[in-house]
Amino acid sequence: MVESRLDDVATFGALAEVGVDELRELQLRRLRWSLRHAYDNVAHYRAAFDAADVHPDELASLADLARFPLTSKAELRQNYPFGMFAVPREQVARLHASSGTTGKPTVVGYTAADLSTWASVMARSIHAAGGRPGDIVHVAYGYGLFTGGLGAHSGAERLGCTVVPVSGGMTARQVQLILDFEPRIIMVTPSYFLSILDELARQGVDAAQTSLRIGIFGAEPWTEAMRAEMQERARLTALDIYGLSEVMGPGIGQEAAGHPGRLQIWEDHFYPEVIDPQTGEVLAEGEQGELVLTSLSKQAMPVVRYRTRDLTRLLPGTAYPAFRSIEKITGRTDDMMIIRGVNVFPTQIEELLLSVAELSPHFECVLSRPDRLDELCVRVEAREPGADADGLSGRLGSVIKDRIGVTVAVEVLAPESIPRSQGKAVRVRDQR
Ligand code: DLL
Repeated sequence: MVESRLDDVATFGALAEVGVDELRELQLRRLRWSLRHAYDNVAHYRAAFDAADVHPDELASLADLARFPLTSKAELRQNYPFGMFAVPREQVARLHASSGTTGKPTVVGYTAADLSTWASVMARSIHAAGGRPGDIVHVAYGYGLFTGGLGAHSGAERLGCTVVPVSGGMTARQVQLILDFEPRIIMVTPSYFLSILDELARQGVDAAQTSLRIGIFGAEPWTEAMRAEMQERARLTALDIYGLSEVMGPGIGQEAAGHPGRLQIWEDHFYPEVIDPQTGEVLAEGEQGELVLTSLSKQAMPVVRYRTRDLTRLLPGTAYPAFRSIEKITGRTDDMMIIRGVNVFPTQIEELLLSVAELSPHFECVLSRPDRLDELCVRVEAREPGADADGLSGRLGSVIKDRIGVTVAVEVLAPESIPRSQGKAVRVRDQR
């Protein structure tokens, strides 16, 4: 059975040998189970499948999944808190929740078996990034209802690493623990890693001299320019990890060492599709659209065709050929700004401002509507105090005009002016 090889740390080395046919066969078997499990045990799915006139028994091939209804975050919210659970609440071993800036959070639940699956895909992710049993792993993702901290933690433990469960915040102490415990791996949001790098500099420590060699960065979009920044300053390999609470948490996709730019999807547990966000139609491999995920093995809270709102493309596998990959996420549909008809993502701004050597990666996009049209002001810190703010703002403004085609205001600020996050950075501030 292929599945016993997939979830056993001892055979992670053989993940690259999994054949595409055996993987597809496993997915189909699991998908049938998952659809049936959702239909039989979650009132929402029963009603939604019935309304779409589809039944789990009609699934003859993986492509038939496209006939099943999509699921949105709003639907999870409507069933707050436990309405999407497919097992009795007593069998739910743990709850997590996604913050949600407005209204109620989205609650997710895990059985003991789900927690084990999660640890396994996280362990695979760390292994794919180059982590090995015995490595010291500094976890600076937040612990708590957010899935980052505990997700990374159990994966590192499963792999056989020594875990340092620091959580986010208290940046001076993060630095001290990195210097004293000498971790080889750090798991943290890229924006908070920048704060750690700044704190190292403040303490007069050369970041390139620490023990850190691998950074597993996720929970927010980040660009190739940011990779270059982090790799250069810290002399480590920066790799991307993707996931979302509704589907499991971190560990749904991972950039493998030596294969930057694309994240393997652990497809034996999460089935990926990419749809046109407007029409909902499934797009062909290689086409850009919204990632949709279906859980294949989750017991407590199966998700069927969950709309992630994350924009990417499905591509062939990299280090593990049977598993397809996604391109690094460009942004979320929610973060897309429309400035005089042009779509702009914070990642595009990040890429461009890092092309100006005197500007730091600390920035925010402020949206306002002084008249009837939306305006964007990019606020960014200079790297050094006393920089020529007007000159730099003119330069970045014209790079943005040239490359994206929109006129934006640019405010260049002194270092330490933009609020730092200890987790996900807030890139868009909406003042409309
Ligand atoms: O952020 C899970 C996670 C924790 C992933 C730690 C990686 C590392 P949520 O809080 O539910 O879960 O937020 C999920 O964050 O839909 C994306 O929009 C965004 N996101 C997560 N990872 C990436 C990434 C966690 N690598 C939402 N690149 C997702 C871009 C990401 N966006």
